[in-house]
Formats: sequence, C-alpha cells, structure tokens
Amino acid sequence: MDILKKIEQYRSQEEKLRWEGTFADYLKLVKEKPWVAQSAHSRIYNMIRDAGVEEENGNKVYSFFSHEMFGLEEALEKLVEEYFHPAAKRLDVRKRILLLMGPVSGGKSTLVTMLKRGLEAYSRGDRGAVYAIKGCPMHEDPLHLIPQHLRDDFYKEYGIRVEGNLSPLNTMRLEEEYGGRIEDVLIERIFLSEDKRVGIGTFSPSDPKSQDIADLTGSIDFSTIAEYGSESDPRAYRFDGELNKANRGLMEFQEMLKCDEKFLWHLLSLTQEGNFKAGRFALISADELIVAHTNETEYRSFISNKKNEALHSRIIVMPVPYNLKVSQEERIYEKMIRDSDVADVHIAPHTLKVAAMFTVLTRLREPKRGDIDLLKKMRLYDGENVEGYNSSDLNELKKEYQDEGMSGIDPRYVINRISSTIIRKKVPSINALDVLRSLKEGLDQHPSITQDLREKYLNFISVARKEYDEMAKKEVQKAFVYSYEESAKTLMDNYLDNVEAFCNKSKLRDPLTGEEINPDEKLMRSIEEQIGISENAKKAFREEILIRISALARKGKRFDYRSHARLREAIQKKLFADLKDVVKITTSAKTPDEQQLKKINEVVARLIDEHGYNSTSANELLRYVGSLLNR
Ligand SMILES: Nc1ncnc2c1ncn2[C@@H]1O[C@H](COP(=O)(O)OP(=O)(O)O)[C@@H](O)[C@H]1O
Ligand SMILES: [Mg+2]
Repeated sequence: MDILKKIEQYRSQEEKLRWEGTFADYLKLVKEKPWVAQSAHSRIYNMIRDAGVEEENGNKVYSFFSHEMFGLEEALEKLVEEYFHPAAKRLDVRKRILLLMGPVSGGKSTLVTMLKRGLEAYSRGDRGAVYAIKGCPMHEDPLHLIPQHLRDDFYKEYGIRVEGNLSPLNTMRLEEEYGGRIEDVLIERIFLSEDKRVGIGTFSPSDPKSQDIADLTGSIDFSTIAEYGSESDPRAYRFDGELNKANRGLMEFQEMLKCDEKFLWHLLSLTQEGNFKAGRFALISADELIVAHTNETEYRSFISNKKNEALHSRIIVMPVPYNLKVSQEERIYEKMIRDSDVADVHIAPHTLKVAAMFTVLTRLREPKRGDIDLLKKMRLYDGENVEGYNSSDLNELKKEYQDEGMSGIDPRYVINRISSTIIRKKVPSINALDVLRSLKEGLDQHPSITQDLREKYLNFISVARKEYDEMAKKEVQKAFVYSYEESAKTLMDNYLDNVEAFCNKSKLRDPLTGEEINPDEKLMRSIEEQIGISENAKKAFREEILIRISALARKGKRFDYRSHARLREAIQKKLFADLKDVVKITTSAKTPDEQQLKKINEVVARLIDEHGYNSTSANELLRYVGSLLNR
C-alpha cells in the first residue's frame, strides 16, 4: 500500500475516534466505561498491565517493556509494583516525583520514551481513552466540574472519587460561556501527543540559575490584558507551561537535580497537595506523572544538601541499573546496531557476545563467597548451568550486593568502539578480535578511568579473549563435523583393510591402478600412536581387532567405528590432529595445494551456510584458529 493511502487511512481512523458531547453525555459514558475517568497514574499502570504480564523464574516480566528493555526485569518489577501500582490506587506516592536513578546510558531515557510513546498509542484505544473539557489548554478532567458539595453523592452513584478543583479558567468559562449550566459544558475526547503538546511534555531547564518558573506553569499574556482588563483574569493568562500541557499524562523533567533549589521549591506544593500555583490564581490541580532521571553521584550530592530536605522526601527514587546478563547485553547491542547507520555491516558470530562478556564483567562486583570467581558468577547471572551450583547459589550471590550494576562500562561506549572499528577496518565485516582490540585502545582514551580500573578492565579483556579462543576453536571443529562421520568411517575402513592384510600377511590392491601394494604401516601407526600403542604392542592390538570383527560377524553384526572404544578414540584423535594440520596449513601455506584448497573452501562454505559467517569472517576465523593451534 502506498504511503498516501496510509496517511488517508490514518486520518479516517482518527476521525472515527473523535467524540464530542455535553457533560451530561459524558456522564452516561462514565457509567458505561468507568475507566475513562481514571487518573493519569492509573492509566499508565493499566497500559503496562494491558500489554501483558508473564511470570519468569519468579519475576514478573512486562511485555510493555520487554521488547525494548533487556535484562532489567527486576528493576522494572520494582518500578511497576512499588510505584505505578500503588500510585494507580491513588495512594500518596503518586504525588511524588518519580526519580529514575542509574548510571549513564543505562536505559533511563529509553524507559521514559517508552512510557510517552506508549501513552500516545494507549490513549487512542478504548481502555486508554481520555476525555477533557473542550477548549481547555490544560485538558482539564471533566469531573472537576462536579461541585465539591456533590462529590459524595457522585461517589455513591458512580463509585468514583473526584479529586481536584475546577481550574480558575474553567470556573470562569462555566459562568461566562455556559451560564453556570454544568450539564451543557462541552467535553471532547483527547489524544495524548507530545508533538501537539497534549498530555505529554518534556521540560529541560535552560540556564539552571536563571530558570523562569513560567516555563513550567505558564505566564501572563500581555497582548490580552488590555482586552480583559486585569492580570488576574484567567483569560489573560497563558496556561502553556510544561506542567499545564502535560496534565492528564506525563511530564519528563530532564536534568532536574541540576536546577537551582529555589526553582525546585515550586514543586513542593505540587508534590504535597497535587496542585501548583500559576500566576495570581488559586491553585491548579494537576493529574500527571512527573518523572526525572539522575545518576548516583548527582543524587548523593542532592540529598547531602540540607536545603533540599523538604523536596527530598517528596521524591521516590527507583534504581535503573545496568543489565548484568551477557545474553541480554547482546540483545542491547543488536538493537542499537539495528537502529544505527552501521546496520548493514557483517558482524561475525560471537563478536557481540565477547564484547558483552567484557562489559558485564566490568559491572559485576567480586563475589564474597570464595568458591565462585567472577566468570562463574557472570555465567550464573546469565542463567547458565555451572557445574556444582544451582539457583540458590545464584540468589545468594545476588543478595551479596544491593547496588550492583551502578557502575562499569556502558552500552553506548561499546557501540561507539564497534562503529570506530568498522570505520577503520574498511571491510564491512568485523569480528570479536577487532572489537576487543578496539575496546582496549578505547580504555586509553576513556576520560573517567583511573589507572587501577584500567588494569582491571584490561584483565577482563583478556578473560573475554580466552573465552573467545575456546569458542573459535570449537566453531572450526564444528565446521568439520558435518564430514566427521564420513571421514571417520573412511579412515576406519582404510585402517581395517590394512590391519587385515597385515595380520594375514597378504597384500592390498590399489583401487585406482589395480596394483598389489603392501599394507600402509605409516597410516596404521599414525592412528595407533594417538592412543599410545607402542611398536611392540601393535601386533596384539591389530589381532584383537580382527577377532572382534569376526566375533561380530558371527552374530551377523557389522564392525563399525563405534564398535571398539579405544579404536574409536584413536580415529577421533587422528581426525582432529589432521584437522589441526588442515587449519594450520590455511595459515602457513602461502600457496595451498589443490587438496588443501578444496578442504578450506569446504569448511568456509560450511561456516557461511550453517554458522552465520561471511567469507571474510570465515577466513579470518580459520586463520586465527590456525594461529592458536600453531602455538
Ligand atoms: N537494559 C537495556 N535494555 C535495552 N536498551 C538499553 C538498556 N540499557 C541501555 N540501553 C540502550 O543504551 C542506549 C542509552 O540508553 P539511554 O536510555 O539513553 O540511557 P540513559 O538515559 O540512562 O543515559 C539506548 O540506545 C538504550 O536503548
Ligand atoms: Mg538519558
């Protein structure tokens, strides 16, 4: 479908969603769908719930977050259950400012953005529908129209508690435009949108010292004062501060703790009573989530300042630590790369995993238990099976530190190193070694790393490197495995033919020329030596095998390479030794012969077809494993 069609379709959908009616109509709607009258906090909570909740290892996993936030299940569960859930129930926490505290690039902004985009979408659905007094710049809650003295009756009839007073502007409009007839006041459905400044706002302070509160709470409109005659006429006031505009939804307060404390005091009444002061008017009730973010250092210095005490208790702090699971860290990189302009670069298998190992190691604290090292802890955290340990060990480890994940290397750093590797390498293909090298170089340029920390991190790089070496070797062996069974069988048959000829003192026939040839002593010994059979013992070994073959034959069974454990081991070792040679050759032979070349191509093809490499990275892997085997 072309884009113009889609635009048109979207418009007509929006058209269908629109609703306008009188307050009397609205009350009917509230009877039918009481949830339209829910508070902003409750709407956010339900938005998260409605997306689906799953149980995983005793943790709640919210689908709302899980497609974009990785490895933060515990932090998110705390956030939802300890903040949004009680806030949705109108408990006092909802008036507090939600402060997300965590290290740089740990996903705080991402989380807030998800809530914003989520609300925009949710308000277009039935369960998230929002209604407001028509023409109100703050999209005021229609139920505020119900006079205080009737609210108990309203509660009895509708089961809904109304909080907050009708704003000065709408109080005046009610008189002027509707002659006091509440039931006639026009109500409309609104759609939250940050772009249109409806119910979603972002406040980022300009100069923290000279910040004007008007940016938050609006200001006098000098062009209309003359018309209305007085500064205290609400019609001469522009309710267009960020707090006004974000009413009914959410306001993100960027760099909040960098603001001057006097400025922040303006927030006190908001966080105590749920209302704020604008101009010369009576207090304005606000129905919105205020969410800010900060890092640990900034937060510590904020609470150590006595002057901030009052505000301090009006803030609820939720930690957003770094992810501590290697596999989830890989997903973070995958996502960041997908969204970047290097998305089409080939990244060899294991590359992101190895980078993630390094990163997670920098974030983990040394286990207090002596029997577990950092690498094992890393594995346990990622849900791997580590021999000798189980989930209670894992829980014990987690309990050792309450504040793990608040420091270490951030994902953006890794992505930046990956990008710079890509730019430098000129081939659109990178591997684990490229990235480890780049991470290492980056440590020299990293401004905030002390010498001690640098040493520690360099050590983690070599730990990750060792892990990679093992993975690389296995990968190459695996690439040979496809032909393994066949090769093992061929080698075994060849060996048995020779053993038979040897024991019977007969000759073999060359399959090509038909010539008679002697048993291939060199071949037989090369296999037998793998399991330490001496020159003196070889005859007995060969005879024993022949006996085994005939014994099996009498029972109508065939001898194959699995029939004899020691021989099987010898064959396997021989194959791997040969394989080692083949790989070595790829690195050492400047001009491989036809046979070698064929083998190399075969393995490369398998690495590409079955293991996710491209020809550059497959060849790089072979060369690297060759050099490892040559050591
Ligand atoms: N746990 C995580 N899950 C998914 N993405 C993450 C996570 N942590 C960091 N990121 C990614 O890292 C980048 C920086 O995150 P951001 O939200 O800007 O961090 P902050 O605001 O905490 O500094 C973003 O691209 C974000 O998607
Ligand atoms: Mg941020």
